Amino acid sequence: MPQITVINQSGEESSVAATVGRTLMETIRDSGFDELLALCGGCCSCATCHVHIDPAFMDKMPKVSEDENDLLDSSDHRNEFSRLSCQIPISDAFEGLKVTIAQED
Ligand code: FES
Repeated sequence: MPQITVINQSGEESSVAATVGRTLMETIRDSGFDELLALCGGCCSCATCHVHIDPAFMDKMPKVSEDENDLLDSSDHRNEFSRLSCQIPISDAFEGLKVTIAQED
């Protein structure tokens, strides 16, 4: 169970136990962060699960798909560390990951 840190839209940090095999979106949502709307339930069609990944972990992330890239382009808050958290399966390599919930568009 990798231990990760979630930073909410107010900048507050919380430590969360993530489960390998689930997605980062499910981990954040099910830990009680209402700010992560995840409206489409993980189908890669809403972009309301937008997060910013710790720069040190970017090379551990799966590749961005074309659909994810298009959706991220629709956000004013996209930066080089942006990802849709529903597209990221948790792995043991995420121990110590910090992830920030992006501001709402
Ligand atoms: S939950 Fe809708 S794109 Fe991730």
